[in-house]
Amino acid sequence: MIKIKYENVVKQFPGSDHLAVDNLNMEVHEGEICILVGPSGCGKTTSMKMTNRIFEHTSGHIYIDGVDNRDINPIELRLGIGYVIQEIGLFPHMTIADNVATVLVEKKWPKNKIHQRVEEMLNLVGLDPEIYSKRRPSGLSGGQRQRVGVARALASDPPVMLMDEPFGAVDPITRARLQNEFLRLQEQMKKTIIFVTHDIDEAIKMGDRIAVMRYGQLVQYATPDDLLSMPANDFVSSLVGGNRSIKRLNLIKVEDIDLYRPPEVAEGDSKTKVVEAVAGDKLGVALVVDDRGKLVGTVTNTDLKRKGEYVKDIYAPAHDLVGPKSTLRDTLSIMLGYGEGYALAVDQEGKPRGAVSVDDIFSAVKDNE
Ligand SMILES: Nc1ncnc2c1ncn2[C@@H]1O[C@H](COP(=O)(O)OP(=O)(O)OP(=O)(O)O)[C@@H](O)[C@H]1O
Ligand SMILES: [Mg+2]
Repeated sequence: MIKIKYENVVKQFPGSDHLAVDNLNMEVHEGEICILVGPSGCGKTTSMKMTNRIFEHTSGHIYIDGVDNRDINPIELRLGIGYVIQEIGLFPHMTIADNVATVLVEKKWPKNKIHQRVEEMLNLVGLDPEIYSKRRPSGLSGGQRQRVGVARALASDPPVMLMDEPFGAVDPITRARLQNEFLRLQEQMKKTIIFVTHDIDEAIKMGDRIAVMRYGQLVQYATPDDLLSMPANDFVSSLVGGNRSIKRLNLIKVEDIDLYRPPEVAEGDSKTKVVEAVAGDKLGVALVVDDRGKLVGTVTNTDLKRKGEYVKDIYAPAHDLVGPKSTLRDTLSIMLGYGEGYALAVDQEGKPRGAVSVDDIFSAVKDNE
């Protein structure tokens, strides 16, 4: 199903001698993430803003569910499309709760329903409403503000979302976490999303399809796999970069590969039990789980030298874990930072899923070629 269709779309700003968008033809499939990627000024934001008529296109047509967007009342149109703007754009004088509620207020939702929905949205993006609802944007970190921007766009549950560099202003680790959380949400939401980035790694990780733009033109529109294996021209090749095997690591997620499972021990187990477990494991590690089955740490030979009768006295706390949506590229950087030949993976609840080793990464890339 085609959700959004661009047909010969042109945008020339008044007084400008060039086309900001030059004959864009593109179809966005329902329930997919379409990534717009390309150098600064190539027309990504302009293409988005024409979709919900913040900008009017000079010529051509944009269809949403087969209806020309010029035939839709612009206010109605905007209320039906979630929009995360570049630079987040929260209202500085309003609380976080009021920021998230903006579209709901415009839609005239009853007060109690708004309150409930705002709490639900803040929880969804991992911000405790108790702590954050009453704060102003200035009291939040960059990554937290980006979460608020995403919560606001999702609040009225629009079927279409436009997201302009939604994770642009954060460090790589927070960014990877936001990406993973968003992909997990999208698995349930199945929204049609146009997502702008200028980070090719993010594009490959997040996109069902990638639109590469340059000078207002669509240069290539393909799946991440096809973009890597069949770049349309030198420009796309250079954008994708030299080492395609490394890029391909962005394409494979932890949930896509079979994982080796080291032995598990409980915090209350005796040291003797864990000595056996570690000795018998090929990676020389035992995973420590708490009474709810969550991974809390590991024991290796180094930890066994510590004094203590029980596992809980000697284990090393778990850190730098990867999740189902982490890419093998994220996993590899964690391994390198960690100085181990493997990284530990947990599921959504924090329960151990297994270990990803360097060998697993090599063979996953090989299988994919
Ligand atoms: N309101 C405007 N008035 C006039 N020209 C504009 C306006 N907005 C954008 N442009 C021009 O249109 C072209 C495309 O801009 P656009 O903002 O779409 O780029 P972009 O791909 O989003 O870039 P970036 O990655 O820097 O956000 C640029 O040449 C820009 O200068
Ligand atoms: Mg832009």
